[in-house]
Amino acid sequence: KQGRVAVIGSLNMDVVVQTKRPPRMGETVMGETVHFIPGGKGANQAVAAAKLGAETSMVGAVGDDPFGQSLVQSLQENGVKAKAVKTVPGFPTGVATILLSGGENCIAVVPGANSQCLPADVEAHREQIATVDVVLLQLEVPLETVLAAARTAKELGKTVILNPAPARELPKELYRLSDVITPNRSELEFLTERSVEGDGLQQAMNRLRERGAGCVVTTLGDRGAAILSKEGFQRVPGHPVEVVDTTGAGDAFNAGLACGLSEGMDLFRAVGFAGRVSALAVTRLGAQEGMPGRREVESFIPVEKEEGDH
Ligand code: RIB
Ligand code: NA
Repeated sequence: KQGRVAVIGSLNMDVVVQTKRPPRMGETVMGETVHFIPGGKGANQAVAAAKLGAETSMVGAVGDDPFGQSLVQSLQENGVKAKAVKTVPGFPTGVATILLSGGENCIAVVPGANSQCLPADVEAHREQIATVDVVLLQLEVPLETVLAAARTAKELGKTVILNPAPARELPKELYRLSDVITPNRSELEFLTERSVEGDGLQQAMNRLRERGAGCVVTTLGDRGAAILSKEGFQRVPGHPVEVVDTTGAGDAFNAGLACGLSEGMDLFRAVGFAGRVSALAVTRLGAQEGMPGRREVESFIPVEKEEGDH
């Protein structure tokens, strides 16, 4: 069955500069290329979910400027319903400056219009949210909005996936409203203030369940993912691929998870599917532009990465 997903979240124009090595603070290095690529965690996840075949809609905000127009256009071209993305006069469209060096990145985000994605916008699109299976949330719009979306989703009986990125402290209520919370390693460390090496991983994930999250799925880069649910702790292996750009790897994963769950896959299968989506996404430049389509994911023959083989 085709699943239905609603994303409430951010849209950014990513200004991606590739350099041989990253500059140190106070230093200037020459860059090699610059690309303007549609991004933002919310929009990336929406585009990826749509490319995977989910009927996807997005609630968000852009500025009244050319970046805003091309971000909305990118959603539409990729099949995301963007009627609920509003244009806010007086605020610039969100921008992320991304430095890429040897497949690794560092990012600074200026939220701009994303700061005007408000609880009232969630309320205004309640009927739209009522039609979906899964509501997918991240932390690049105001926390009140994320909370309002999670509350609305639960009132309507929807599955809530919270991708706690970028990391910030969360109110307890948000854990209780999350059916699945999907930190990466560093977000999990931030949220639990503990190291996630060795046994620490499972303990930290346990913490988030104690706070009320239904299931915890931790993404571990090329080492796959770990799941903690009422069935216990499980690992899902990663896939070695040639990394070009990890920007949006987490977004690809979350979209895969949302799409899988919206189609009725069980959590383990959905996490496996999400891992393949994300493995393919990192082999290409750009967040949204690098998101794979459904057929590619189905024909991807994964090689399992051995545990401890980094
Ligand atoms: O998750 C990747 C995204 O984070 C980028 O597209 C950038 O916009 C930042 O928000
Ligand atoms: Na990519």
